[in-house]
Amino acid sequence: MSIQPPTERLWWKEPVATPEKVWITVAFLWGLAMFGMMIYWHVAGRQNLSNEAYRIDPAVYQERAMAVAAQYTVREEAGLPVVAPPPGTDIYLIARLWQWWPIFELKKGQDYRLHLSSMDWMHGFSLQPVNINLQVHPGYDMVVTVTPDRAGEYGIVCNEFCGIGHHTMVGKLYVVE
Ligand code: CUA
Repeated sequence: MSIQPPTERLWWKEPVATPEKVWITVAFLWGLAMFGMMIYWHVAGRQNLSNEAYRIDPAVYQERAMAVAAQYTVREEAGLPVVAPPPGTDIYLIARLWQWWPIFELKKGQDYRLHLSSMDWMHGFSLQPVNINLQVHPGYDMVVTVTPDRAGEYGIVCNEFCGIGHHTMVGKLYVVE
């Protein structure tokens, strides 16, 4: 018992007991299996998002985002442009203190290359009510190919604490039939 001092002075020189060896082996093999599952779920479970990441200057990113918005804005909503880009194109969402810009209107069942980047600090892209979470870094262009499968109105909340206005950093995304 650990309450008593060990009887042998060189207690740590004892050979490892069999049950302990068994548990170390089990834990190691389980770790390996779970490592394999990460890759397996990526393909079979469709649980992990495949993304690409590139270095980008925030000013360049902003220029690209504004070019897309300038070309495909269909209306305004609460001071934000609602942008309906053609399927298959690259769309750029800007994260900044404390706003998601612009509002996209996507078509159900179509592919889009969604770019995410921050203009200032780190933000978190969380699509509600579905469970999609991505970190948004300044200086990096994160690209995910998305295919919206349900029409409706989605919320985008920031789930990375980014200062005093963090809780007001709420965006919107439309998926239409
Ligand atoms: Cu942006 Cu929290």
